[in-house]
Amino acid sequence: MTLSGDLRERVAGLLAMQAGSCGALGSPLYEHLLRRAADDVRAGGPVGAVFDAGTGKGVQDAQALRLMAAVHRLVLAGGAPALARHYPSAGGTADPEPAWAAFRATVAEQAGAVRGLMRLPCQTNEVGRTAALLGGFLDVADRWGLPLRLLEVGSSAGLQLRWDRFHFRTGDASWGDPGSPVQILDHWTVPPAHLDADVHVAERRGCDPRPVDPTTPDGRATLRASVWADQVERLERLDGACLVAGRVPAIVDAEGAGTWAARMLATPAEGVATVVFHSVVLQYVAEAERTAFLTALADAGRRATDRAPLAWLRLEPERLDELDRGTPFCVRLATWPGGADRRVASSGAHGASVRWLAVGSEAT
Ligand SMILES: C[S@@+](CC[C@H](N)C(=O)[O-])C[C@H]1O[C@@H](n2cnc3c(N)ncnc32)[C@H](O)[C@@H]1O
Repeated sequence: MTLSGDLRERVAGLLAMQAGSCGALGSPLYEHLLRRAADDVRAGGPVGAVFDAGTGKGVQDAQALRLMAAVHRLVLAGGAPALARHYPSAGGTADPEPAWAAFRATVAEQAGAVRGLMRLPCQTNEVGRTAALLGGFLDVADRWGLPLRLLEVGSSAGLQLRWDRFHFRTGDASWGDPGSPVQILDHWTVPPAHLDADVHVAERRGCDPRPVDPTTPDGRATLRASVWADQVERLERLDGACLVAGRVPAIVDAEGAGTWAARMLATPAEGVATVVFHSVVLQYVAEAERTAFLTALADAGRRATDRAPLAWLRLEPERLDELDRGTPFCVRLATWPGGADRRVASSGAHGASVRWLAVGSEAT
């Protein structure tokens, strides 16, 4: 279909904005493709034809990333060999301008398939984000000395629920099993405290309206398509995490944040420290459900005791209302009894450049 002038400008704006984010997050290939795609949409080219009037509503829909994931999925499945030559994830060499020509041709020739794949929501599961969350888990383990009950909201495939099976290292600072298939290296600008904390995970459970099964070929294809094609290290970490998922079970319930949190937190769990956590999820949750989720947490916080403490750990944009202005990301940790809520680290959106803050060093 042909987009109206207004919608065309809106979609082009979303593509250009995502280009900026991809550039800032170390994907020059996607930055280039998205900038050229924005120009193509403005000029009435084939890229605009895969969007329809119901899409392009806003940055929350992640329409630009859906386009990139749809095309990447075709490439990884062997359905776009000319473009594969320019995608490092498929063994090619990232050469931006020839890549753009092949990208545009792929979208033009396979518009129906691209449109169909773009109906799938953004299902990134970025295990690198656990480099930002780790310090919060260790803080809770150190503070209460109890096994951890992990409850993850917006788990996607639940890969982050296995964070204690990954290996983290930056310089001399490290945590976890050095033999892990998931190596998260050089993600810390300032490493977290309590790297010697004793950690035992008692339960791993998450929720997502559309859980992905990382142990099936289709689930892995969904996850791999969401990684940016010139970020091969992310792809390797993802593949490693899918291996771990095959060995370490975790339940991901097909449910949204609001009702799930209320059910999971209905009664205090004695003898464990419950950690509700999430990363890059809140922007996808409608406002009413977000309120229900926050109410469930606050209610559970009032019931928490030192034998059944509660923590809320999250890596999210600092300001949800400034998403389209490139708001920075940070990690916050709230704990009950008490309910103190602190900003504990700054981080990139994918969990790189994590700067852990010393307790008391920064205002809430
Ligand atoms: C960008 S992905 C992040 C996934 C994962 N937390 C990570 O950091 O890799 C956003 C996730 O939020 C999930 N989501 C969307 N709406 C939700 C809701 N109402 N409640 C819980 N999760 C939701 C999506 O299905 C998707 O898996």
